[in-house]
Amino acid sequence: MPTSTQSFPRTRPRRNRVDGWTRRLMAENRLSVDDLIWPVFAVDGENQRQPIASMPGVERLSLDLLVPAVAQARDLGIPCVALFPVLPLDRKDPEGREAGNPDNLMCRAIRAIKREVPDIGILGDVALDPYTSHGHDGIVKDGYVLNEETVEALVRQALVQAEAGCDIVAPSDMMDGRIGAIRDALEGGGHSLTCICAYAAKYASAFYGPFREAVQTGGLLKGDKKTYQMDAANSDEALREVALDIAEGADMVMVKPGMPYLDIIRRVKDEFRVPTFAYHVSGEYAMLRAASANGWLNYDAALLETLLGFKRAGTDAVLTYGAVDAAKLLRERS
Ligand code: PBG
Repeated sequence: MPTSTQSFPRTRPRRNRVDGWTRRLMAENRLSVDDLIWPVFAVDGENQRQPIASMPGVERLSLDLLVPAVAQARDLGIPCVALFPVLPLDRKDPEGREAGNPDNLMCRAIRAIKREVPDIGILGDVALDPYTSHGHDGIVKDGYVLNEETVEALVRQALVQAEAGCDIVAPSDMMDGRIGAIRDALEGGGHSLTCICAYAAKYASAFYGPFREAVQTGGLLKGDKKTYQMDAANSDEALREVALDIAEGADMVMVKPGMPYLDIIRRVKDEFRVPTFAYHVSGEYAMLRAASANGWLNYDAALLETLLGFKRAGTDAVLTYGAVDAAKLLRERS
């Protein structure tokens, strides 16, 4: 660390903060629309626009409405959307078999977006929880999520999404060995340029509550996901997870949740220097919305400060439900 030999009053850090133009010159980090990934929720049907109570401003959309919403995001300059399907109960079963159906909602959504809005990237969620009748991310036996059996299902799921045109498959399940298995299957299946974004350091978190309302798994889930998602107490373990996923062929890695885990983002970035994404998750978004609805926070300012904090911590891109809001704010301010 450089140490200053000068002291007050020769040194006055406030000199650099007097004017707007000096502050702009001194800024070490900048948030741009290029840093944003917008998570969206798809439902079947037509003209469906279903608000999610715990996530004001976020809606489940049928494909006829989702595609124009994605086109609007593209027009704002957002480079990528993260796609999540919401299935009715009669499409769910204990094995989550619908995940591997090449004509499932997810694949139809990917094809519709790629047809109408080909110049935006799609990051497809790979995990069984939207498809299982128990809400877990894998196949359960005697209360335990089976690893290899689940990985087999995830490979099939990743392949059908890649075949539908998904640009980045993103396993969010935390099974061991799934990145290598998916990478081999993509290479073998003629999809060598399909990227894998590994949810590498994904913690068993209380901040996923509103997402589980959005995908309607919260009511189904018994217990928690602590036998596969990481313990919030751990930091070295995140580096181990990231190292494994990179070795198995991940193109970018993710840390999730975001705000309470900025230290993990910094460690991952410093250690590996690979593309690193962060997920500003549903509960974090809900906190900003709830506080601002009470007049306790200014949503716009708090959102931009939050996202800049991710940049400062070292992320290359942030998944945030506020992506469209942030893109509009950044455009107004430029
Ligand atoms: C599950 C999944 C979760 C989220 C994304 N994928 C929740 C969970 O692990 O139960 C959460 C995202 C959010 O909270 O915004 N595969």
